[in-house]
Amino acid sequence: MNNVVPNHLLKKHQKNILNEKKYNSENLQTLKSSIKKLLKDKNGVLISHYYVDHEIQKLTEETNGCVSDSLQMAKFGQETEADLLVVSGVKFMGETSKILNPEKTVLMPTLEATCSLDLGCPAEEFKKFCDQFPDREVVVYANTSAEVKAMADWVVTSSIALDVVEHLDSQGKKIIWAPDKHLGKYIETKTQADMIMWDASCVVHDEFKFQGLKKMKKLHPEAGILVHPESPMEVIELADAVGSTSQIINASKKLDFKKFIVATDKGIFYQLKKESPEKEFFEAPTAGEGAQCRSCSQCPWMGLNSLENLEKTLIEMKNTINVPEKITLEAQKSLNRMTSF
Ligand code: 13P
Ligand code: SF4
Repeated sequence: MNNVVPNHLLKKHQKNILNEKKYNSENLQTLKSSIKKLLKDKNGVLISHYYVDHEIQKLTEETNGCVSDSLQMAKFGQETEADLLVVSGVKFMGETSKILNPEKTVLMPTLEATCSLDLGCPAEEFKKFCDQFPDREVVVYANTSAEVKAMADWVVTSSIALDVVEHLDSQGKKIIWAPDKHLGKYIETKTQADMIMWDASCVVHDEFKFQGLKKMKKLHPEAGILVHPESPMEVIELADAVGSTSQIINASKKLDFKKFIVATDKGIFYQLKKESPEKEFFEAPTAGEGAQCRSCSQCPWMGLNSLENLEKTLIEMKNTINVPEKITLEAQKSLNRMTSF
């Protein structure tokens, strides 16, 4: 992981990876029952990303919540009748839920969980960047702060980024794209749109390497390759399917391979195996093969979500997400475009 991940978090992350899962069946059942009761009492619902702890994903399914990619998480918050949204993922996902549903209470198991793309695109610097190109349409990835979303014309996730840029390009629009340079490059290559790019990347996907992946494909020539487009272009070029987390899961079901090499956060393996128990899934190699958490295909911030802090948040009703009204009103415009595209 590069140096945007603070040291104390890196240590915690390393410990998580080394210990893998820490629940025994007794405390697991106690925690799950307690969270189920708290959700019922408070009319709450769980909204969780595919990268979080498998036990949180399972509990979310058992309580009729939503386990999904970042786009569906945003839509589900708008559709549910629950008063309380408990978002397990990273900060931008909680903020998106709050902006789209200001009347609801939004909690997160931890407020420490952010994203290197969000950190890599500070609002003030981004404003100066945009001011240099006033004629361009500002398209930002959902992995950004509320303030950056408030400056954008469009917010997109990787599920719709390609289609939105294609749509804007067909109207003759020129684009400012931020913050993920790899996703931006991929979209530019596919659409030939006129794009000016911000320079940031995801600490997890940036670590997937072309040479390592080619070697692994040699070992498993019959395996299909699934890649999230936050990965470098040369890795994307080796893929049999490229897409958002939900598009990767769909491709694993539809494509006619019995084995897959997967270049995205390994939290997704719970869904991949659940959907296709007869298929085999391998983690794509990263820069730090065997180097513990320098790169381990696991997002250090997603890994901060646990059943323990989820329960504590619900008991204490803490870690509330709040977004200033002015930012909410501005960001609602670009986010509503995203959910209704
Ligand atoms: P998805 O929208 O594909 O779920 O991606 C979110 C994310 O943070 C990937 O790293
Ligand atoms: Fe951000 Fe990458 Fe983590 Fe996704 S995996 S939340 S893009 S740091």
